[in-house]
Amino acid sequence: MPYTRRETFLPFTRPMIGQPEIDEMIDSIHRGWITTGPKCAKFEEELQRYNGVPHCRVMNSATTAQEITMQVLGLQAGDEVITTSLTWVSTLSTVVLQGGIPVLVDIDPVTLNMDPSKLEAAITPRTKGIIPVHLTGLPCPMEEIWTIAEKHGLWVVEDAAQAMGATYKGTKIGGDPRSVMSVYSFHPNKNMTTGEGGAIAFFDEAYLPRIQRLRFHGIERDAWKRQSKEGSVHIDVVEPARKANFMDLQAALGLHQIKQLDGFNARRRQLFHRYLELFRDLDEVMLPTPGDDIHGHCFHLFVARILPEKAGLSRDEFVTALKEENIGTGIHYRPAHVHSFYQDYFAQHAHAMPKDGLPNAEWSGERLLSLPLWPGLTEADQDQVVATIKHVIAGARAKIAV
Ligand SMILES: Cc1ncc(COP(=O)(O)O)c(C=O)c1O
Repeated sequence: MPYTRRETFLPFTRPMIGQPEIDEMIDSIHRGWITTGPKCAKFEEELQRYNGVPHCRVMNSATTAQEITMQVLGLQAGDEVITTSLTWVSTLSTVVLQGGIPVLVDIDPVTLNMDPSKLEAAITPRTKGIIPVHLTGLPCPMEEIWTIAEKHGLWVVEDAAQAMGATYKGTKIGGDPRSVMSVYSFHPNKNMTTGEGGAIAFFDEAYLPRIQRLRFHGIERDAWKRQSKEGSVHIDVVEPARKANFMDLQAALGLHQIKQLDGFNARRRQLFHRYLELFRDLDEVMLPTPGDDIHGHCFHLFVARILPEKAGLSRDEFVTALKEENIGTGIHYRPAHVHSFYQDYFAQHAHAMPKDGLPNAEWSGERLLSLPLWPGLTEADQDQVVATIKHVIAGARAKIAV
C-alpha cells in the first residue's frame, strides 16, 4: 500500500465490547444486584474451566491480586523474590509493599522474558520465590524456571496479566500446579476485559478462605450471601484487609468476553503474522518472535524495537513522528528500575541488581514500542500503519544522508 496520511487517530488498542456484554450489564441493573454476586461466581467458574484450574478468584485488578498472592504466601520483611525489570511496576511494587525485596535478573533479548540462565546467580538464603512475567503474551521458558525453583525450594507465582489464552506445552498459563498461583488482568488493554479486574488461579484449596477474605475487609462470607434468604445476617472480621471485590457489572462483561477469547486471539494471531510478513524487509526494525508449539503466544502485544543506529531516529522521536501521523503506539514497558522510586531503591539495595546490571532490559527498554493490534483492526488499518512506518523511516534516513 502506498503511503497516505491517516485522517483520524488510530489507537494502539481498543476493547471489543458487543451487544451481549451490554445486554448482560443491563440485566444486572434491572435485577437490582450490581456489585459482587452470582455473576461473579459464574465468571469464576468460567475462568476455572477455561484455564483448567480448580480455583480462580476475581478482584478489582491484577495489581491487587499480586499483592494478595504475596500476603497469602506469607512474604516477610527482607524476603527476596526474583523477577524481571521489563514488566509493569506492579510486579515489583506488590513485593515491596509486603516488605519483600524484588531481585532483578536480565531478560532474553529475543523473547523479552526472564532469562532462566541468570536465575541461580540471583538466589540467596533469603530467596522465597520467582515471579516470571509472560510479557506480550509470550510464555516464559517455564520448564527451566520450575526446575530451578524445585531445586532451591522456591515457589513460583506467574504474572500472567498479559497471558489469558496463552499456553505452555499445550497447557493454559496458570493451569500447571508447579506454579503455586498465577495472576490474570482484565484491564481494557488486555485480550479480554471486564473494564478493570484481575484474578488469582491456584490449585491448593487451603488458600481459598484467605484469598476470599483478603479481597473483602477480612470477612469470610460475601455480602450477597448474607443478604439472601438462607444466609446469616452476622459477619465476622478475622483480620484487617482491603476492599477489592469485583462487581457483577464487571462479571457481566467477563462472561461474554471469555466466550469470544479464542476467536479474539485467533484474529490477533493473523494480524501479528501479517505484520511480520509486511515488515520482512525492514532492517531498521527488530521484529518480535511469534512463539512456537511449546510457547503458545496469545498475541497480546506486537512489540517492535526500532534500531536508532539504522533508522536515524530514537524510539521517542519515532513515537512522536507516528503520533503526528495519527498512529498510536504504546511502550510496554520502561524497565521498572529506571523509574525514579526504583532508581533510589536499587541504589539502596545494590545486591538486588546483578553486578553487571541489566543490559538487555535497558537496550530493549530504550527501543521497544507496541504497534496497533486488536481484533477489530482491519487489514487496511494495518497496511496504513506499515506504510506510515516505512515513510517515517525513509524520511529520517533521507535527513541523515543530507
Ligand atoms: C505484566 C503486567 N503485570 C501486571 C499488570 C497489572 O494489571 P492491572 O492493571 O489489572 O492491575 C499489568 C497491566 O498492565 C501487566 O502488563
